[in-house]
Amino acid sequence: MERLQKLIAESGICSRRKAEELILKGKVKVNGEVITKLGTKVDSNDVILVDGKKIKTEKKEYYLLNKPRNYICSLEDKEGRKIITELIDTKARIYPVGRLDYDTTGLIIMTNDGTLANILMHPKNRVEKTYLAKIKPCLTMEELFSLKAGISIDGIVCHPSRVKIKKHDPSKEVDLVEITIHEGRNHIIKNLFKAINHDVLKLTRTKYAFLEVGELQTGEYRYLTKEEVKKLYAYQNK
Ligand code: URA
Repeated sequence: MERLQKLIAESGICSRRKAEELILKGKVKVNGEVITKLGTKVDSNDVILVDGKKIKTEKKEYYLLNKPRNYICSLEDKEGRKIITELIDTKARIYPVGRLDYDTTGLIIMTNDGTLANILMHPKNRVEKTYLAKIKPCLTMEELFSLKAGISIDGIVCHPSRVKIKKHDPSKEVDLVEITIHEGRNHIIKNLFKAINHDVLKLTRTKYAFLEVGELQTGEYRYLTKEEVKKLYAYQNK
């Protein structure tokens, strides 16, 4: 269930504020009844008329995608690169929750539910994201400690909640590092390693909140279950 003004705004006909005005002026009908109370709860099965015209409401859809390399997390790309929404077979206007870089693979949620997307992206809700980063050169013990202690990026300290070396290959001078953070700034993992003079050669996101990429191959996706969506919504009260 959603607030009436929100559903009207999401249909694309006007802003939320304008929708509130229309409701207060008695211009909105739900299932044949004029509604003037702001915040009335409706869902996408209700028939909503604004000024006598039926609005199109979209059913909420939720996907977990294992993003391949060379896809952009955007709804369009001026350079003609492949975009992430092409990978999901739906007519709904879904979009990615947050971003993974063009060359990053791994778990990303795709939805048309703006409320959930905002909950998950809001820094105060501290949703955990876990990445596997192949870095060069190998980490020294001091660098590992400084990562764990937190590193300032553009004046804001990023404080990973876990950092673990999963594979150490001194002959190739590369480490595979598992790192868990709460924040969602763009390029944050690459910038963390850059701050201590390491390059990220490969990056994949393996976990998002309690969700794991599991058996999904890159390019594959699955629908989130109702329970999973409910658990994601609970992040707003944590
Ligand atoms: N951090 C990065 O540097 N890149 C991503 O794609 C995600 C997190």
